[in-house]
Amino acid sequence: MAFTFFFRDLHVLELIVRHAIPILASRSYARVWDAGCAMGQEPYSLCILLAESMGRFAFNNLRILASDLDDCNLFGPIIAAGVYPWEEVERMPPGILEKYFEPDEKPGHFRVKDTIRGRITFQKHDLLSLQEIGQGLSLIVCKNVLLHLQAAERVEVIRMFHRALTPGGYFAVEQTQDMPVEFRSLFERVVPDGRLYRKVEGSGCGS
Ligand SMILES: C[S@@+](CC[C@H](N)C(=O)[O-])C[C@H]1O[C@@H](n2cnc3c(N)ncnc32)[C@H](O)[C@@H]1O
Repeated sequence: MAFTFFFRDLHVLELIVRHAIPILASRSYARVWDAGCAMGQEPYSLCILLAESMGRFAFNNLRILASDLDDCNLFGPIIAAGVYPWEEVERMPPGILEKYFEPDEKPGHFRVKDTIRGRITFQKHDLLSLQEIGQGLSLIVCKNVLLHLQAAERVEVIRMFHRALTPGGYFAVEQTQDMPVEFRSLFERVVPDGRLYRKVEGSGCGS
């Protein structure tokens, strides 16, 4: 269930970065929630893409809250250490490995540099608790997770995401995930070729 890899769904990640940067950069304390982050490859990929595209000042105001059910209690230490074997990092986009990773003392392993690691905090969290981990969030990414839930659970989890987002905030899922009909007036689709949605301003708490 925790299958993932660096820069998975790159098209979606690039869309997110392109559209969400104005709202992220406009806030003195911008928060992003990566829900169902597995072992950290996704929040680190997102953070690297944001570092590539945001000004340094805005990037330093960014916090990525990465969460997962983490039923084996494994992900927290892995994400905090930010150390991954060569097989996981060998297929990075050009230049990324050299710029954002450094060789770890463990042979054949690479460590995410502090500039990126410092932006990400991990929290063990079950989406089915329906308790949002923050309010006023600018962006929520939940890729390849909702497909594991029942349809009714999915609706309640998306309702929680809607509550957690600031008006105009963004919500991204994988390409194959449809937005339930209940949310058609609460989220607007941002682009025809990707599952990136924007919380409609004035759409309340969606409950
Ligand atoms: C296939 S991985 C997706 C990882 C990453 N988002 C990606 O797209 O590569 C699915 C993740 O969802 C997590 N997950 C499943 N059900 C969850 C729940 N109820 N609450 C939080 N995380 C959950 C799993 O633990 C797993 O790490």
